[in-house]
Amino acid sequence: MMLCKSLVAFSYLCLVMAASSIAQSPPVLDIEGRPLEINVEYFIKPAITDVAGNLTLLTRKGDQCPFHVGQVPLRSQEIGFGVTFTPYLPSEDMIREGRDLKVVFQAFSICITSTAWRVGEADPTTGRRFVETGDDDTATGYFRIDRDNFGVYNIGWCPSDVPIRGRPRCGRAGILIEKGLRLLALDGSAFPFEFVRA
Ligand SMILES: *[C@@H]1O[C@H](CO)[C@@H](O)[C@H](O)[C@H]1NC(C)=O
Repeated sequence: MMLCKSLVAFSYLCLVMAASSIAQSPPVLDIEGRPLEINVEYFIKPAITDVAGNLTLLTRKGDQCPFHVGQVPLRSQEIGFGVTFTPYLPSEDMIREGRDLKVVFQAFSICITSTAWRVGEADPTTGRRFVETGDDDTATGYFRIDRDNFGVYNIGWCPSDVPIRGRPRCGRAGILIEKGLRLLALDGSAFPFEFVRA
């Protein structure tokens, strides 16, 4: 914007440029630095080593089917499931930070009807809300990717594009360990993730 100060004649153009750069949040990048693309499959892995594997579907106690989102345990042979991201706003041409996104596991199962992520029930002990799968076209069926002060990606829930009544109880996704299962849950400290193109 230094240029804008010196070129008074172009001030209108500069205003327009400034406005459009505010409106467009930065694209989310994969581990190779390429912008995430719509409807391309990505694995979501920890941005820290020796903790866990990629995100997958897990069977929590009481589940008829594996429908909780969680992490593959360390030293497992499983690689987890890839996901696709689709912006809520049809006008979005790529996956950007802070935008509402549909996240869908690319998994096939006769057991589950939908592999799309949604905000699930709260854990009675901790009050933290699990991330699970199921059909949901309301605000609880959309997540977002944000970058923290260190440039690390987090996944969160805080509707900004999807209409919602009242003020949402925003939360960032971290890991809740329950009987050895590493379950994705909101309302705790955020877990660092990165994205690997499948
Ligand atoms: C996660 O997925 C990527 C991409 O398929 C794969 O290369 C990797 O082995 C998986 N597991 C871990 C722990 O990163």
